[in-house]
Amino acid sequence: MVEDLRLDSLEGVGPVTTRKLSDAGIHNVMDLIVRGPVEIAEITGMDKDTAEKIVNKARQHLVEGGLIAKDFISASEIYKHRQSIGKITTGTNCLDTLFDGGVETQALTEVYGEFGCGKTQFAHTMSVMVQKSKEEGGLEGSTLYIDTENTFRPERIVSIAQANEMNPEKVLDNIIVARAYNSAHQTLILEEAGSIIEENNIKLIIADSAVGLFRSEYLGRGTLSVRQQKLNHFVHLLSRIAETYNCAAIATNQVMASPDVFFGDPTRPVGGNVVAHTSTYRIYFKKSGKKRIARMVDSPHHPEEEVIFALGNAGVIDPEEAEKKTKKTTKKVTSKKIKETPVETPEVETPVETPEVETPVETPEVETPVETPEVETPVNTESDNLEFTDK
Ligand SMILES: Nc1ncnc2c1ncn2[C@@H]1O[C@H](COP(=O)(O)OP(=O)(O)OP(=O)(O)O)[C@@H](O)[C@H]1O
Ligand SMILES: [Mg+2]
Repeated sequence: MVEDLRLDSLEGVGPVTTRKLSDAGIHNVMDLIVRGPVEIAEITGMDKDTAEKIVNKARQHLVEGGLIAKDFISASEIYKHRQSIGKITTGTNCLDTLFDGGVETQALTEVYGEFGCGKTQFAHTMSVMVQKSKEEGGLEGSTLYIDTENTFRPERIVSIAQANEMNPEKVLDNIIVARAYNSAHQTLILEEAGSIIEENNIKLIIADSAVGLFRSEYLGRGTLSVRQQKLNHFVHLLSRIAETYNCAAIATNQVMASPDVFFGDPTRPVGGNVVAHTSTYRIYFKKSGKKRIARMVDSPHHPEEEVIFALGNAGVIDPEEAEKKTKKTTKKVTSKKIKETPVETPEVETPVETPEVETPVETPEVETPVETPEVETPVNTESDNLEFTDK
């Protein structure tokens, strides 16, 4: 199949064009579709008409090979095509219910919420789940993890793998981590991801976080439209890669306080309309004491509903699991204390029964919620004017 995707398998594309394209980071037919004619013309220096012709040929080639959908198809064909979309279990009943089976391929799923709400934990969990066998709800694929905040922790992967009775070493091997140092680098990683995706059977791409670097680099109202444009490019690229390569894409996003909201929750995802318009599914994570609430905010076919989940050693977990663990640990602590404390010294006794004993193994969070104050007001009219040319 890789043979079929070579640039020179396209009629009219000879060695010179092939070289020009690969110098610009376009290595196969899929890359042509992902980047589109305008960008191809820009990065290779070829004229727009030629670029359009090549991209059209690439599209035709992939349609003939059955790799992408035809331009005009009947609704029943779309329905059939959607049946073949892969779903990755979240490893929990509650979130699987919310996602109607799991995180879908060929779609961009945005998870947003305040610091510490579990976005990174969810991303870690999904990097493991995608590797599970199809019978167990996985896709037997690997993960490309774009880490922009330096919060990827292999130790967490090991404990999630162990909790799922998977071989931690193998699981780690199947996660390719790309640490992005600035927003341009973050985009470049994605632009060059085509061959990595194919060679490593990547079925899940994570951008954690998708917006953070753009947000910290482009501060102030004056830079807002440039930021939105660049962010627009990144999220569109992510969504096109997901569609073209049939993999799932997860983008995490922070929230900011929105002063114009008087009723309900005054937080809004950062990135404004750009991310919102591009993502297929949007999930809002919210803290609720030790538990977490996940809400399906925007979906073409899911009802807007909420579920409760929790965080634990196994990543995102069902709330009942968390309760079971709490009971177990409370019991353990109690019996230990009884053994330890000699009956003669009543002063030493501490009230062990307090419900605070929950998750005693909690590692202190080193993470600093670097919530840079948002300079712009959240309802950014500038971003409203952005066009979404390729959607
Ligand atoms: N092994 C673990 N067991 C239980 N809870 C854990 C474990 N590891 C981390 N957590 C919890 O996960 C939470 C942090 O979640 P996470 O890092 O996913 O937040 P986030 O939404 O990515 O935040 P940010 O916006 O700062 O990136 C903390 O409350 C922490 O207690
Ligand atoms: Mg995080």
